[in-house]
Amino acid sequence: MTAPVLASTRAELAVLLADARRAGKPVGFVPTMGALHDGHASLMRVARERVALPDGDRGPVVVSIFVNPMQFSSGEDLDRYPRTLDADVEICAAEGVDIVFAPSVEEMYPHGVPAADREPDGVTVVPAPALADVLEGAVRPGHFRGVLTVVAKLFGLVQPDVAVFGQKDYQQLALIRRMAGDLCMGVEVIGAETQRDADGLALSSRNRYLSADERATALSLSAALRAAIAAGPDGVQPALDAAHAVLAEESGVDLDYLVITRPDLGRLTDDFQGEGRILVAARVGTTRLIDNLPIQIGASTGAAGGDTTKGDN
Ligand code: PAF
Repeated sequence: MTAPVLASTRAELAVLLADARRAGKPVGFVPTMGALHDGHASLMRVARERVALPDGDRGPVVVSIFVNPMQFSSGEDLDRYPRTLDADVEICAAEGVDIVFAPSVEEMYPHGVPAADREPDGVTVVPAPALADVLEGAVRPGHFRGVLTVVAKLFGLVQPDVAVFGQKDYQQLALIRRMAGDLCMGVEVIGAETQRDADGLALSSRNRYLSADERATALSLSAALRAAIAAGPDGVQPALDAAHAVLAEESGVDLDYLVITRPDLGRLTDDFQGEGRILVAARVGTTRLIDNLPIQIGASTGAAGGDTTKGDN
């Protein structure tokens, strides 16, 4: 197990990547906010596979660890967000990551951190398309502008060939994929399957905030998704009803949204048939959790895939 090289400035990162670029090797990238867990480790494994070369060599895998203040609005948990750099670097080492980029806020935002929820004053940001205003964006105004801005900066610094994101943040994945395509960033955006504990809870850095009782309550989110999937052949409304019935059994779940959409998050009609996506967000105690899965609505065509979608440019 070789420890990754740590870079905290743009200049250090550029030096570390120069050899790989000169040799024409592909660069794999996993952007994170740290507090890494097995879900992140699986993204690193996907990135490693994707930079493998036919001769057995491979290109470097870069993991960034940066708690991006621009994607938190005031009142959100920026200060409370866990910062666990030493443990994170150990996980990166175990997954054969080559470079960990852990910049300061000043390094990433030398002109100051723009507010995500109002028009920026003299600093360039990435405006998010309308897809950013629904679901997570509806309860976290400006959040995706902050996400897209930092990811665009990170893509500019790392210039990856492939970047891997988790499907757990499904709307984020869709928006990053859209940005990479719309702005011709030349990076393949890959969505990797959500990793779960054996009892179904989707892995999340925020799970560590849950007490034992809250964790037991939180299991109802994935249980609700599974109930909806089981009822999916009967249609959209029966699927939603089945999920609501599971959530109603838990008094500790403060539901934000439970929706079925098209796989691209577009709206569907009540008589929709085919593959959709079911997404849930809820507060359990003070912790906000999200989860989602593919769902087949109506008669199966055999086309409903697993929990993996690949990105395009
Ligand atoms: O998913 C995350 O951890 C963050 O939103 C990301 C993509 C690293 C941007 O800060």
